[in-house]
Amino acid sequence: MKIIMLGAPGAGKGTQAKMLADKYMIPHISTGDIFRANIKNGTELGQKAKTYMDQGLLVPDELVCDLVVDRVQQEDCKDGYILDGFPRTIPQAEALDAALANIGSKIDYAVNVEVPDENIVNRMSGRRACVACGATYHIVHSPTKEEGICDRCGKELIVREDDKPETVTKRLNVYHEQTQPLIDYYTKQGALKEVDGTMSMDEVFNAIVNILG
Ligand code: AP5
Ligand code: MG
Repeated sequence: MKIIMLGAPGAGKGTQAKMLADKYMIPHISTGDIFRANIKNGTELGQKAKTYMDQGLLVPDELVCDLVVDRVQQEDCKDGYILDGFPRTIPQAEALDAALANIGSKIDYAVNVEVPDENIVNRMSGRRACVACGATYHIVHSPTKEEGICDRCGKELIVREDDKPETVTKRLNVYHEQTQPLIDYYTKQGALKEVDGTMSMDEVFNAIVNILG
């Protein structure tokens, strides 16, 4: 099963993608997580990506397309994968489709997790993330057992650099301009599935599982 998670920043793409990856035992590929790991490790890619990410802007298509196209062709992706945060522009979607067509493959579902802008800033300000293992929490909706410590790996949690309210607003604008057009793109392909992302995490998960079967 090859799935794309669509949705605004903070809609819950990463939260749901992790749960789905566990259920269907397929890799969860988050371009945001890949960039953050590169920033943490001080790579050249990380340094380039950081200047865009900190401003709430998209990283240029050429820095992200090849990376994902290579990743989905690795051995562990042969039974499917969940793409979280990619594609984010029409050229990215076209690059992915072209690469998949070359290997006789295609996306099965593009799941759009819908959350109105009003709910997003609150979600982001409460988010805590583990840079070591990628787990995501929320101080109210999904707290850790011990404050500031990752339940999964015991490392310290951080507030993401781009979760400041002014950067979140910028990211939302970028989403509406550059990423929302993908909803039409995948509707035309017959792959789009809509889910109400304002429900609880488990309710959203069940709704997605019902769609995927
Ligand atoms: P990325 O890391 O992908 O960030 P994003 O799309 O802005 O999405 P988020 O990770 O902020 O939100 P999410 O939908 O995953 O929500 P989450 O599950 O954490 O990208 C970061 C940056 O990298 C971009 O701005 C860009 O610069 C760059 N980038 C990445 N990919 C790129 C690409 N393809 N092209 C160009 N640039 C790229 O949930 C949010 C919070 O809400 C959490 O605290 C969570 O616990 C809570 N929550 C989740 N679900 C619920 C619920 N149902 N009820 C209550 N709370 C909930
Ligand atoms: Mg995410």
